[in-house]
This record gives sequence, structure tokens and C-alpha cells, in this order.
Amino acid sequence: MKDANIEKQYATSGARLNNFIRMAMFVLLAAALFQSILTPISPRRAYWWSNIKNLGRSLQYHGQDINANFFEGWYFKMVKENEGSDHNNSTVQGMAVIMGIYRPPLEAQDHQRAHAFVLPLGLSGPEKYAYYRFPTEEFVDFGSHLPGEERAFRIRIGNNLFAHDEVILDLPVKNFERIPIDELEAFYAVASAEYGLQYLQQARREKKAHGEGEEKVNEQPLPLTFFRGLFPSTAQLKEAELLEPFAIKAHFKFPAKTQTPLPKSLLFPTIMGITHYIPFLECNHGVASLQHPIQYGRIMTLYGNNSIVSEATFDGGIGYIEKDWGINFPSTWFWAQTNMFRKSPGSSMMVSGASVPWLGPDVTDWIATHLPRALPLTRFAGMLIIYYDAASKTLYNFSSYMPLARIKHLRFALDVEAGTQTMSLHATTKDPNGNLWERVALEINVTRTMGTGYPLRAPNRMRGKMAVTVEETVVAKTRVKLWRVRSGEVLVDDEGIGSGAEIVGDALWLENRINS
Ligand SMILES: *[C@@H]1O[C@H](CO)[C@@H](O)[C@H](O)[C@H]1NC(C)=O
Ligand SMILES: *[C@@H]1O[C@H](CO)[C@@H](O)[C@H](O)[C@H]1NC(C)=O
Ligand SMILES: *[C@@H]1O[C@H](CO)[C@@H](O)[C@H](O)[C@H]1NC(C)=O
Ligand SMILES: *[C@@H]1O[C@H](CO)[C@@H](O)[C@H](O)[C@H]1NC(C)=O
Ligand SMILES: *[C@@H]1O[C@H](CO)[C@@H](O)[C@H](O)[C@H]1NC(C)=O
Repeated sequence: MKDANIEKQYATSGARLNNFIRMAMFVLLAAALFQSILTPISPRRAYWWSNIKNLGRSLQYHGQDINANFFEGWYFKMVKENEGSDHNNSTVQGMAVIMGIYRPPLEAQDHQRAHAFVLPLGLSGPEKYAYYRFPTEEFVDFGSHLPGEERAFRIRIGNNLFAHDEVILDLPVKNFERIPIDELEAFYAVASAEYGLQYLQQARREKKAHGEGEEKVNEQPLPLTFFRGLFPSTAQLKEAELLEPFAIKAHFKFPAKTQTPLPKSLLFPTIMGITHYIPFLECNHGVASLQHPIQYGRIMTLYGNNSIVSEATFDGGIGYIEKDWGINFPSTWFWAQTNMFRKSPGSSMMVSGASVPWLGPDVTDWIATHLPRALPLTRFAGMLIIYYDAASKTLYNFSSYMPLARIKHLRFALDVEAGTQTMSLHATTKDPNGNLWERVALEINVTRTMGTGYPLRAPNRMRGKMAVTVEETVVAKTRVKLWRVRSGEVLVDDEGIGSGAEIVGDALWLENRINS
């Protein structure tokens, strides 16, 4: 993970890349000008300026001067393998603390809606997740912008502290917000329909593979009630609604020197690589630590009368930190992350792919109305795919922006009998340790149990507010294989547990973009 390597590595493709960058810059500049003509109002400009100002400081808060149309969210993940479980029957406790700030568009402005939030998932009590809402005034950024302190991140929300090496939760009952049943029901309906569509697509694919007219293959779509039945029932939701609200206290420590940050360079200031320079992306992604041990981790949930509901410890567990910021979440995306591998401790994988309106939402909307034919050109399937091998300290990078990387295959498949959904991905890239002609291939399968993820609120463009739109899994399983294509040498063949996973929106669109 030496920055100096990057120069050497790309020396060959340098000239081509330079042309590409120049052209990309030109297109971006044109779009940016266009953008400021279309939206002379300040929030979007403030966002653009903030991304320039904070270049290479992805962990830091980007919203200082932005009063609308903005969100920023940090994701702190903790996993720990339970004692006594063997490799064939492993139980892993996984949780995430997501926190951030949301400012709706000016036109949807409603003071109730702009707020800061803390969202713990994977709790050990009777309720597995909670939403705590705070006034935006209680969100205070103590981050340092001094050179060399880019990672000194520090935010306070109420009495909670979030830093690059520590999280302290003190979430009182008064900020607890129960997600209304109708919001959950609306989400379960959409999520079930998405599973249903994937199932239908899969049946069609199998039918095609077996030859048209073959009757053996199931072409009967499963009723939507089947998929809705995988989520909590209406009766269960009503029961949960009657439960007491609870408070949370927690403390997690993960010293900076034990973390695995991404290498940084001019071409690759963040995980987004060169695409980080696109200044008005709908959503930016940052990875702060690929893997770190949790030195100390305690969490408890309590009732208002201070009686303890549940406790969990994460001492000796494994952590991960990433974040998103921008205008909205994409309309369609998948994401998975694993850093608890059987054979390769310290290794880490992160994959994500999204439908990216690369000209920004405003220009895209304008094109939709005035140049509808050009609309397909305004979206590309952007992929961020990395595998970090701890033993050899090598970062394999298969992301779309890598000149020699190719994503060859993407598939979402359901196993209705096992009740699981699997995301399979196959990609190749230049071997960072090999000769010019050697390629490295990555094959992964991320499998989760359908309907068992936690409902996660995310900024929603259509509704102009934070709404539950994501089934957030923290304990999926991942199979990883990494090998040299020419020599056939297998570099990694491993299983990861406690994986994070999300699959949201039009999965078929992503599949088609990659597989065609
Ligand atoms: C797996 O391990 C858990 C706890 O370690 C135990 O409760 C469970 O019975 C085990 N399951 C099997 C199939 O061995
Ligand atoms: C786990 O499974 C593997 C292969 O499936 C088997 O060889 C091994 O004996 C099993 N181990 C235990 C402890 O059950
Ligand atoms: C992508 O991979 C290359 C080499 O494998 C690495 O030097 C670069 O830093 C990576 N980019 C990011 C954003 O991680
Ligand atoms: C505290 O409140 C909970 C929930 O209302 C109740 O079940 C419990 O008995 C109370 N404990 C004490 C010590 O009052
Ligand atoms: C992923 O799943 C596919 C289909 O089941 C299988 O052929 C492939 O070997 C799996 N890959 C890994 C790395 O487990």
C-alpha cells in the first residue's frame, strides 16, 4: 500500500489516462457551468464548493455551509464471533451504528424534517434497531482541517461522540423515535416486490437455459405474500409498537494506529478514485478503515427507569468505518463488506455498485424533460470493488475507474427453499504485484437470509425526507476467491462472516448493464 507505487503502475497507461482526464475535466466543467445556470440557488453551489474544499478528507464533515438538499452519514460496524461456535456452525454478533445529518430540499422545507440522527442496528435486546432523532443544532463538528490531521474526525450529537478512533453513545429515551407502522409496511411492500421481480427474472433465465418450451422449470411467479411473509408480520409490528422506548449507552474504542486506511494519492484521493473529482455527484462514498480490532466495546439498552434491558460486549471484535454524503442515496445500488475471514485475518473486502446520474440530479431531471432520448446516457453503473489482502499488504482494485479493470458478471439469485439471496460478482484487474500481462480475478458470493435485515432509513428523493428504504444486513456470509488468471495460482480462497449487505432498487438494471 505505498502511494509511490501508483505512479509506477500507471506510467504505461499514463498518456492515455491524461487525455482521458483532460476530456473528463472538460465535460465536467461544461456540465458544472450548465449546472450553475440551472440552479443558481446556493445549496447546490455550497455542496460543490464543499467537495472541492474537503478533497482527500472524506471522513470529515462536508456540510458546514450547506443549509438544504444534503445528507451525510457515517457507518461504524462491529462484528464478533461468538465463543464456542465452530467453523461449520459459526454464530457471529454483528452491529452497526449509523449516524449523520439530513437537510431536506428547500422546497420540501419543514423544520421537523431537517435533523441529526443516530441509528443503532443489531442490538441484543427484544428490539434489534432504533432511531434517535436530534435537532440539527445538537450536531456539532469538532473535526480538524489542519494538514496532516485529515483523519482527526470528531462529531458530537447531543451527548454522543463519534470520532475516528472512538464512539460513545448516550442516547436518551426522549430522542427515541419509533418508526411508524405505515412507513415499515410501505417498505416491506417494496422490498417484497423487489424479491418477487428477482425471482421472476431468475425463473425466466432458467427457462431459457433449459430451452424454450421445457415445462420442468418453474415459471409460476411466487405470490408477493410469500416474500412479504419473510418480513415481520403486521401483528408483530403492532406488538412491537407497544413496547417501551429505550435508552442506549455504549463505548467503543479502536485506536487509530491499528486501523487499515486506504492509501491516498492525487489520482485516488478516496475509494472513488478519479471519479471523486466529479463535483456534484448525487452520492459520494468514503472508506475510513478497512479493518481494525475493537480494543474495547460495550453496549447496553435501558428503560427510562434505568433498568437494563440487554447488554453486549465487542471486546476483541473487528471494526470497519465508512461513510456517504451528498444530495440523496442512489435510486438503485448494491453494497457488501466483509472483514472477518477464516483463513486471512486482517483482510477486507468492499464491493458496491450503483446507478450513477453522473451529471447530478438537476441536469438529469432537465434532460428527462427536454431531451428524453438522451436519458440513458445520463446514468452509468459505477462499481467500487476492492479486496485488501492483509498477509501480502496488497490492495486489489477492480473499481470501474481502474483503466484495466473489468466487471465481467453480476447476478442476484434467490434460493427460495433456503430462504436466501446471493449476490455473485466476477471481476478482473491488473495484478499489482505481477507483470504487465498478468491479471487477477475476483469471484465473490455474498449470501444473506431474506427478510432478516434491519429496516434502515435513508434520504429519499421522491419523498423529500428520510424514509425506510433499505434492508440492512450485518451478518451475511461471503465466499471469496482470488486468483492469477494466466498462472492459475490461487491467492485467496476463503469465507467471510458477519458481512454487511444491501441490495436496493432495480437490481435487474445493474445486472443488464454489467452482463450485456
Ligand atoms: C451452533 O452453535 C450455537 C451456539 O454456539 C448453538 O446454540 C447451536 O445449537 C449450534 N447449532 C448446531 C446445528 O450445532
Ligand atoms: C466442518 O465441515 C467440513 C466440511 O464440510 C468437515 O470436513 C469438518 O469435519 C467439519 N467440522 C466440524 C467440527 O464439524
Ligand atoms: C486502487 O488500486 C491501486 C492498486 O491496486 C491502489 O494503488 C489505489 O490506491 C487503489 N485506489 C483506491 C481508491 O483504493
Ligand atoms: C422499569 O421499566 C420496565 C418497562 O416499563 C419494567 O418492565 C420494569 O419492571 C421497571 N423496573 C423497575 C425496577 O421499576
Ligand atoms: C459462487 O456461486 C457460484 C454459483 O453457485 C459458484 O459456481 C461459484 O463457484 C461460487 N464462487 C465462490 C467463490 O464460492
